Amino acid sequence: MRPKENLYQPGETLLTEGEIAEIVARLGHEISIDYGGKNPVLINLLKGGVVFLADLIRQLPIPHQIDFLSVSRYENGTDPNGTVRIIEDLATNISGRDVLIVEDVLDTGRTLAYILSMLELRSPKSLEVCSLLRKKSARHTGINIRYLGKEIPDVFVVGYGLDYNESFRNLPYIAEFLTPDG
Ligand code: IMP
Ligand code: MG
Repeated sequence: MRPKENLYQPGETLLTEGEIAEIVARLGHEISIDYGGKNPVLINLLKGGVVFLADLIRQLPIPHQIDFLSVSRYENGTDPNGTVRIIEDLATNISGRDVLIVEDVLDTGRTLAYILSMLELRSPKSLEVCSLLRKKSARHTGINIRYLGKEIPDVFVVGYGLDYNESFRNLPYIAEFLTPDG
């Protein structure tokens, strides 16, 4: 049993600031090679991916654009298909464009599956995913992550943009987080 005052504290560090920087540099290098001369649109899913995007684009010496998509999962739990509500759509017309989705973490994969099928209907030239983290159980979602930072255990994590009830996004590292209900 943890002391009550510690219930809302981040736990064990999964990725240090230095480890994140190495991963982001590697991903930036891979993306720069693959997208050289293509002027891709990087689509960021708000809000969890915003810290990652900000660091990633500073590792991209190639021309590119960024845009944002704000979505929310319906949380009543009655829809097994994980219908997603669009809160704010893209400003960019992605028809004929090379599109790279920049995501913080793939968990059940439902959000991303929905977004991929939605964006596919807009006829991008290509559509790929870059995700900083993927939980172990998400390996079998069928979603192909072209650029993966790191696979992590099936635990709830906070920091580096990832939140628990809108807190802890500001941590420069990523830590496991034990919710009060376990
Ligand atoms: P999914 O649809 O289950 O793959 O997860 C959708 C979104 O939930 C992710 O993009 C994150 O923003 C958020 N999420 C999933 N797991 C975590 C976590 O461990 N910490 C914080 N946010 C998470
Ligand atoms: Mg996210």
